[in-house]
Amino acid sequence: MSVNWEELRSQFEEQIASADSLNVIEQVRIDLLGKKGRISALMGQMKDVAKEQKKDFGMAVNSLKQATEKLLSEKVEQLKAQAISSQLKNESIDITLPEKKRHYGTLHPLTVVQQQLEDIFMQMGYEVWEGPEVELDFYNFERANIPADHPSRDMQDTFYVDVTRLLRTQTTAIQMRVLEAKASDLPIKVVCPGKVYRNDDDDATHSHQFIQMEGLVVGENITLGDLKGSLELIARSMFGKDRQIRLRQSYFPFTEPSLEIDVSCHICGGKGCPTCKNTGWIEILGAGMVHPHVLEMAGIDSTKYSGFAFGVGIERVAMLKYGIDDIRNFYTDNISFLETYKRFE
Ligand code: DAH
Repeated sequence: MSVNWEELRSQFEEQIASADSLNVIEQVRIDLLGKKGRISALMGQMKDVAKEQKKDFGMAVNSLKQATEKLLSEKVEQLKAQAISSQLKNESIDITLPEKKRHYGTLHPLTVVQQQLEDIFMQMGYEVWEGPEVELDFYNFERANIPADHPSRDMQDTFYVDVTRLLRTQTTAIQMRVLEAKASDLPIKVVCPGKVYRNDDDDATHSHQFIQMEGLVVGENITLGDLKGSLELIARSMFGKDRQIRLRQSYFPFTEPSLEIDVSCHICGGKGCPTCKNTGWIEILGAGMVHPHVLEMAGIDSTKYSGFAFGVGIERVAMLKYGIDDIRNFYTDNISFLETYKRFE
C-alpha cells in the first residue's frame, strides 16, 4: 500500500489554513482527527500494510497526526484572537461622535415680563387678581364711568359677543370687579394682569389682542404723590436708571385727574424714529386718581377713601426692555425669535 504523505500533509494544511471561524475549524478537526476522521482511517489501514512497511507507515501516520494537531491548535489560537479583536472593535464607543442636541423650551418673553412685574408688585404688598376675558359691558364700561353713548367708547373699538357681553377691552374691567368685591374690605392693593381685545388693525405697535396689567390702590389718604412714587419705582426696576420718564396730563373717564406716563424711546434714545413716530417718547402707562363717582358706584365712600389706578401694556414694556421693534413678533410663534429671549429669563 502506498500513500503520498506529502500530498496528504499539504491537503490537510490547506484545509486548516482556509478555515475562517472557530465553527469551521472545529469541523476540520473532526474531519481530520475525529474518531471517524481521516487520520483514524489511515491508522485503520495498518492491518493491510505489509509487515516490513508497518513501522514506516506507523511513523508517517504519527508524524502527520502530530503536525496536524500542531497546525490545528495554532489555527484555533489565531481564530480566537481574531474573534476577540473583532468583538472589541464592534463594541467600542466612538467618543468623537457629537452629542445629540437636546431642545429645551423657554418661557415666552411676555410671560417673563408679566411675571417680573407681578414679582415687583408682590414685593410691595400687592395681591394678584384675575377676571373673565368675556366680560359684561357693565364692568368693562358702565362701572368705569363710561355709559352707553359716552364718546370715549369710540376710543376702544369693541368685539361684542351680544348686547351685554363683550371681549374686555381693558383690564380696568377687573379693577371694577375688585372695587365691588372689596368695598367693605379696604384697603385695596392689587394688580390685575390679563388679555384684552380691540377691533384694531394690526401694525408694528398695535395688536387686536394684547396683555395689560391694571394696578389699583384704595385706602385712606391715598394721594397723587403715592401714585407718582409707585410708578417711578416700577419704571426704575423695569428699565433701569437710564430711561427717562415723563408725566402728561390726560383723560380717562374713570380717573380724575388722569395721567399718561411716557418712557424715552429705546430705539433712537429720544432723537425720533419710526417706532416712536418721531416724538422720542413711547407711551407705556395710563394712570390717575380713581374717579369719586367710580368709587361711589362700587359702594365706597369717596369722602373717606381715595385711590390711584394705572394700566400698563405688557407688550410695550417687553418691547422697551428687549429692543423689539414690531409687536407682531410676539404672536407669530417664530421659534428662533423666542429662543433669542431665553437669556432674559
Ligand atoms: N384702561 C386704560 C386703557 O386701556 C388704561 C388705564 C388708564 C388704566 C388709566 C387705568 C388708569 O387704571 O387709571 O387704555
